[in-house]
Amino acid sequence: MGRGFLRVRYRAAMPADPVHRPGATGIDPDRSKWWVRRLVPLLRAQRAIFAVTMACGLVGLVVQVSVPMVLRRAIDVALDQPSGGLYGYVWVLLGMAVAAFGLRFTYRYLLFMTAYRIETDLRSLIYHHLTRLPFSFYDRVASGDVISRANSDIRSIQLLLAFGPLWALAATSFVMAFGLMLSIHVPLALATVAGMPLVYVLAQRMRDHVFPLSWVTQGRMAEVAMVVDENISGTRIVKSFAAEADQIAVLSRAAGRLRWSATALIDARARFNPAIEAIPRLGMAVVLLYGGWLAIDGQVGVGTLLAFSTYVIMISVPFRMLGFVLLQYQRAAASSMRIFEILDEDPVIRDRPGARPVGDAAGRVEFRDVRFAYPGGDNPVVLDGFSLTVEAGETVALVGRTGCGKSTVARLIPRFYDVDAGAVLVDGVDVRDLTVESLRHHVSQVPDEPFLFSESIRDNVAFSRPDAPLDEVVTAITAAGADGFVTDLEHSWDEVVGERGYTLSGGQRQRIAIARTLLANPRVLILDDATSAVDVEVEATIHAALRELLADRTTIVIAHRLSTISLADRVVLIEDGRVVAEGTHRHLLASDARYEAILASGTERANL
Ligand SMILES: Nc1ncnc2c1ncn2[C@@H]1O[C@H](COP(=O)(O)OP(=O)(O)O)[C@@H](O)[C@H]1O
Ligand SMILES: [Mg+2]
Repeated sequence: MGRGFLRVRYRAAMPADPVHRPGATGIDPDRSKWWVRRLVPLLRAQRAIFAVTMACGLVGLVVQVSVPMVLRRAIDVALDQPSGGLYGYVWVLLGMAVAAFGLRFTYRYLLFMTAYRIETDLRSLIYHHLTRLPFSFYDRVASGDVISRANSDIRSIQLLLAFGPLWALAATSFVMAFGLMLSIHVPLALATVAGMPLVYVLAQRMRDHVFPLSWVTQGRMAEVAMVVDENISGTRIVKSFAAEADQIAVLSRAAGRLRWSATALIDARARFNPAIEAIPRLGMAVVLLYGGWLAIDGQVGVGTLLAFSTYVIMISVPFRMLGFVLLQYQRAAASSMRIFEILDEDPVIRDRPGARPVGDAAGRVEFRDVRFAYPGGDNPVVLDGFSLTVEAGETVALVGRTGCGKSTVARLIPRFYDVDAGAVLVDGVDVRDLTVESLRHHVSQVPDEPFLFSESIRDNVAFSRPDAPLDEVVTAITAAGADGFVTDLEHSWDEVVGERGYTLSGGQRQRIAIARTLLANPRVLILDDATSAVDVEVEATIHAALRELLADRTTIVIAHRLSTISLADRVVLIEDGRVVAEGTHRHLLASDARYEAILASGTERANL
């Protein structure tokens, strides 16, 4: 039974959107299979073009391998009857050369195109899957790691897909050429291939030297890039501590390490490459020596001699490539494991069979005896026996010490996480029985750390509703109290904010985030410390606007400031993972010492 969901093709829940072509297919969900077989559905999608590719390759190969044979006949014929006959062969050879060129070009072009197509499919497959993974996945993994899986690991599979078939054809050319040579003269054929194992051994030894060095060099390049990146993003810190000289020293040490390994790498390549290239030439000398002796003896013709010496060079290719292809195979195997780890990750939060859209929700939110701990490892239980009802249209403030679980409560309503026991209900329906998409349309929150994209302010606000007309965007900006500073910007709402919105102040970013959520016009609005970085005076104007907007909307505010708390009809005090007291602010202040203590620990009391 447990394996049941594995049978689901990953594409099953992929939205068919017109912009990003979803992967044409998925991977085989059976984890016990050999990794190449798991990729088969992806490969199969390209089988038509791949068949054409290999057909071109094979025909090209036959032409290539036949050239020395034609040459052989041409020379033998020419030596036999010097009066002519050579011209015909010259034309044939010329024609073959053109055909071989055309076929090899087409074949390589198609092969790399196919490999890139599969790469693109795999990339969009991973991307679509990543968008479906739950918050708990992103809590667990480092984003740099995921990014590297989506880049370099796909690349190493793509390289194998291109060079694997290339090598297979080269190996076939060896078999064909060797067969032809054997049919002409067995001892000479054996002498011709005798040096090939040595080519492989040397190429392999070169790889043994080069591979660790290239690994180290890549790591050191990443190290230099990281130092530069941190110094550019963290330049304000570096300058404020006048640490430029120290940082330059750090960078030059990293650069020195990179130079050492890069030089060692070039050195290793320079030593092995000429040796590997020399062996086929040595082989040619052997062919000429032994073959020449045979020719003088009358056992073979001069044409045979020439054909064999051409084959020596041709057949060394698969031996040179073999080590590289084997290495690439190992890399691709490791990379596929890392990619499958993502693709095999279960998108825990997904629609149940029969889930229905929220519909015309009134917006009543109920927590029924909820228990929750963050998934994974031994995270402590955050909520236990948590029960709370927020009536449709009501505004409730959650108050409690830092870390008591206020933000967690907010994250459970739109199903960022699922509860361990009990239930969260919207309009009396368990959120797990509603479609995630409609739920998140109706429940929106302004998070405690708003994230802005490096786009214009208008696009950031319209992120929640890309088709919203400008006047609605402006209304939202105004309601969030952001119109003042936005209209002061040089390009107003078309101003592009810097990376993650860092060209704005914390309070300005919060206001853009509020505007973004207001534009979504959710039935249930959650403000998680959403005005913590905004001045008290500005906050008052936001509140004036919000009071109007919140009028018939279910709202949950999480706040420390009394000014924010005063927005609420009712205040709920959270402690030890449950609601310990509730009532109006005045009622709680008069009746509950804990409430007073929490407010007193802030400095805001004087504000009311
Ligand atoms: N993504 C997470 N993974 C694991 N533990 C978390 C995560 N987010 C919060 N926590 C823990 O859950 C508890 C409640 O956090 P939170 O709801 O953010 O508190 P509050 O918003 O009341 O300050 C804290 O102990 C916090 O360390
Ligand atoms: Mg919080």
